[in-house]
Amino acid sequence: MKFSLDSTDVVKQQTDCIIIGLFEQADLPLAAKQIDKISQNYLTKLLNQGDFQAKIGRTLFLHHVPSLSSPRVLLVGCGNKTTLRASEYQKIVMSSIKALNTVKIQRAISFLTELPVEQRDLPWKIKQTAAMTAEACYCFDQFKSNKEFKPTLQEMHLYAPKNEQYIACQTALKQILGINSGVEFTKNLANLPSNICTPPYLATQAKKLSQHYKRLTVKILEESAMAKLGMGALLAVSKGSVQPAKLICLEYHGSSKKQAPIVLVGKGITFDTGGLSLKSPDGMVGMKYDMCGAATVLGTLKAAAELKLPLHLVGVIAAVENMPSGSATKPEDIVTSLSGQTIEIMNTDAEGRLILCDALTYSERYKPAVVIDIATLTGAVVVALGQHATGLLSNYQPLAQDLLDAGIESHDRAWQLPLWEDYQEQLKSPFADISNVGGKQGSAITAACFLSRFAKKFHWAHLDVAGTAAMMMGGGERCATGRPVPLLMHYLINQSKK
Ligand code: BES
Ligand code: MN
Ligand code: ZN
Repeated sequence: MKFSLDSTDVVKQQTDCIIIGLFEQADLPLAAKQIDKISQNYLTKLLNQGDFQAKIGRTLFLHHVPSLSSPRVLLVGCGNKTTLRASEYQKIVMSSIKALNTVKIQRAISFLTELPVEQRDLPWKIKQTAAMTAEACYCFDQFKSNKEFKPTLQEMHLYAPKNEQYIACQTALKQILGINSGVEFTKNLANLPSNICTPPYLATQAKKLSQHYKRLTVKILEESAMAKLGMGALLAVSKGSVQPAKLICLEYHGSSKKQAPIVLVGKGITFDTGGLSLKSPDGMVGMKYDMCGAATVLGTLKAAAELKLPLHLVGVIAAVENMPSGSATKPEDIVTSLSGQTIEIMNTDAEGRLILCDALTYSERYKPAVVIDIATLTGAVVVALGQHATGLLSNYQPLAQDLLDAGIESHDRAWQLPLWEDYQEQLKSPFADISNVGGKQGSAITAACFLSRFAKKFHWAHLDVAGTAAMMMGGGERCATGRPVPLLMHYLINQSKK
């Protein structure tokens, strides 16, 4: 899909479809007013006749509106207020593109960028419109014999008047196209089934990225190398699987090598059966998405490389399959992590923290400015925050604040949970330094507490994306979202300006 800014007035537009928003009560937005004027009140008459209720997300195609040079106008309902919330704006854009995808057109222009959105400016609306358009046209059908969904839309124009914000709009559009490419990459990788997307497959994908972008370099650690280093926690998870674990280290050199890097650590469990602490059949559906943290790291590095951000970044991905078998780790086994701390594994289904703790310790060697891990770590965070917010925990408040801000900016939001010392005692083990589970209470927090024991030497934040990275459960549509690539990219873009 090609996106571009367009400053041409609505009445002069020559395109397949013009998209405009309408509120239930308020005056017509500017583009609608102009159309109304040259068409002898065509819109006003239609509304007075009661042919269109502007409820949020409703759409209606108008054909050959008098005196307009474009053959179609798509009306999109915007509800009964005069200012939209960010989520409402997303919904409106989404429904406009879903409607476009039902007809055969190549080009369209959206005037939805005119709509007032609470505390958001035009560059923000440009970004959201491009992001939602890409989202609405996304379809993962590579395993379908009959590809039913074939959007014909090729060119999307976004209305932006030539005013003082125009340059900012151009920058915003360029940024979001880079971010979109990362989001799409992440979604495609995450949506693959685990019989294809194995730890070696993830390693191959990382290698491919490094071949494509010359500022990206890759190093893969095999199990033998990890054993030599002493990554006993990570390897304990891999023991039950015939798939070899891989530690994927991707480095992006967008600035001087001497600059301390931002390290992104990704949970890459390509399938989580729970191991010997086996999940129920229902609980296992969706567990191909347990590598969304890894996919996010790859997608974010791709987007950063695409935008040539002037930063030093490192991605460390722990890619492992969690399986039960005769060689699998058993409850009450004790292992020694790379940090030297011993861990009593009370539940083999709490495997994410076991692979991440070694990846975190491994990150020390990069002498990082900050470390951010991304993981579908706990079911508890889904209970606490649902699918709207990513769980955020951190040992350094300025970093937490930067991530919260980036979440608000991108509308890919995070919500902070406490990482108080008080929770740490739930992780006591009678036989080892630490247990890998801390009981039912506050278990999204105790999972982060576990990780914090391995993050003492740097500023660190943990993003628990179990609720946000994918719609995992049966029933509704299962699909990866590409989150939190937008959040991380906004964070990185902000860092690159410092
Ligand atoms: N991958 C799961 C977490 C998860 C659950 C992600 C549901 C998405 C949806 C993780 O490895 C896990 O199994 N966590 C356990 C931890 C428990 C055994 C302490 C959980 O959350 O139940
Ligand atoms: Mn698990
Ligand atoms: Zn898991």
